[in-house]
Amino acid sequence: MNLEALLNDRLAAAFAAVAGLPVDPAVRASQHADFQSGAALALAGRLGRAPREIAADVAARADLTGLADVGLSGPGFLNLTVHDDVLAAGVDALDDRLGVARTATPERVVVDYSGPNVAKELQVGHLRSTIIGDALARLLDFAGHDVVRVNHLGDWGTQFGMLIEHLAEDVAGEHSLADLTEFYRAARARFDGDEAFRTRARLRVVALQSGDEATRRMWRRLVEQSEVAFLAAYARLGVTLAPGDFVGESFYQDQLASVVAELSEKGLLVPSQGALCAFPPGFAGRDGEPLPLIVRKSDGGFGYAATDLAAIRHRVGELGATRILYVVGAPQRTHFAMVFAVARAAGWLPAGTTVEHVEFGAVLGADGKMLKTRAGENIKLADLLDEAQARATSAAVGIGAIKYADLSSDRRSDYVFDWDRMLASTGNTGPYLQYAYARIRSIFRRSPAAEPGPVVLADPAERRLALHLLGFEAVVHAAIEQREPHRLAVYLHDLAVAFSSFYETCRVAGNTSRLTLADRTARTLRIGLDLLGIDMPEEM
Ligand code: ARG
Repeated sequence: MNLEALLNDRLAAAFAAVAGLPVDPAVRASQHADFQSGAALALAGRLGRAPREIAADVAARADLTGLADVGLSGPGFLNLTVHDDVLAAGVDALDDRLGVARTATPERVVVDYSGPNVAKELQVGHLRSTIIGDALARLLDFAGHDVVRVNHLGDWGTQFGMLIEHLAEDVAGEHSLADLTEFYRAARARFDGDEAFRTRARLRVVALQSGDEATRRMWRRLVEQSEVAFLAAYARLGVTLAPGDFVGESFYQDQLASVVAELSEKGLLVPSQGALCAFPPGFAGRDGEPLPLIVRKSDGGFGYAATDLAAIRHRVGELGATRILYVVGAPQRTHFAMVFAVARAAGWLPAGTTVEHVEFGAVLGADGKMLKTRAGENIKLADLLDEAQARATSAAVGIGAIKYADLSSDRRSDYVFDWDRMLASTGNTGPYLQYAYARIRSIFRRSPAAEPGPVVLADPAERRLALHLLGFEAVVHAAIEQREPHRLAVYLHDLAVAFSSFYETCRVAGNTSRLTLADRTARTLRIGLDLLGIDMPEEM
């Protein structure tokens, strides 16, 4: 049930009649009543009437029968108080979808997230993309969209020359692929220090691109080894990315020539210092010069941008995506803006297709700088998860805490990685919500015979809890529309707080109505946290 939407609908008719034009009543949850509309204030200038008069007119005309009472407040606000029996029946009816209807206009949504780079271990930088992207994919799924998860793996590029060459020359087998970071470091060290190796590594790049069998085999080994490691991390994190979702940069390699051909044909490429570049209007560098998007490099190779152009064309043209979300850090803002502009100019984004860079801030250490180990190195994700588990003494709590800390803050801000804060059992944390859930479940364990019954609202704390429970649908929609999972996190935390004050003042044992309120709270916490990808232990 979406009370906000119901009230909005009913008021919209009255507003339209009073104003003689369509008006959005802008009904919002409020401190002063259950809901409030301030639309009369915005309308006053236009109609040349006092806002309070307009509001009174609307209140008199609005048909809120069987739903709410309306009153006037302040300079012209409409205060709306939902009938208790409506709230009670709404809570009774909360099922496994918590009243959230599937969208009437499902889209095929590609969610591009995680995107780690092969032969480098998953770093914390990719953690945010993985966690936020997975939450968005789950939310869109739940809302009834057709979600295609895509893991745009960095599995191609010149760095493979040195990696493959290093592997090829390792006849004694002393460099294990089990530790890929170590392997990468060793290859890099040779590349930097050995001129002859460097030459052989460059030849390897050519061999890889021209499809040399043995080279390809070694490349596949490296990629597969990485994929195994990524999948292990996803499993630990409870992330829904599966092997079939891995569509890395290499996938697009044989489409790049035709991308260049098509862009050239459309007059979108300009030769520039041996390279082929697009100059989408409106992008300038620091010097004010037009900014190039390099599509083909001067050595004839293709880079990150060309691959993303091919990917957009493929996702819309072949996969039928009507929406693509790129869950990637804020530093790539210009890259995506330029790729989108070029794709649009090329006609690869027909009307009705939306692409969006869902950007996010950095993960910072307590010192306010990028999160690093004490020795100044990148932190390995596996080490981070080990530590979470050790500190929390349980995987569900430790990993839930990390994920919740990330998801509960606005994704656009940098977020400070702080063990003590994220693991605290009070406040807006994962453990607090898990405890809240386990505590409700324990009520039912203690008295298994207790049967929830129809809800009757008497105490103000019961009413507040009921009203909050019915806010789930609106918040799910808002989280999807704004691509802001933190809205759901904040809602769930507030719900746990509302339950806690209800539980303090209202005796639940033996009260069938209150047992229903408790049951619906537990259900909302479980489903809500599942949408964020966070496990809920039944006992803690
Ligand atoms: N591998 C990239 C990186 O580590 C992220 C890929 C994001 N997705 C994309 N379509 N470019 O920065």
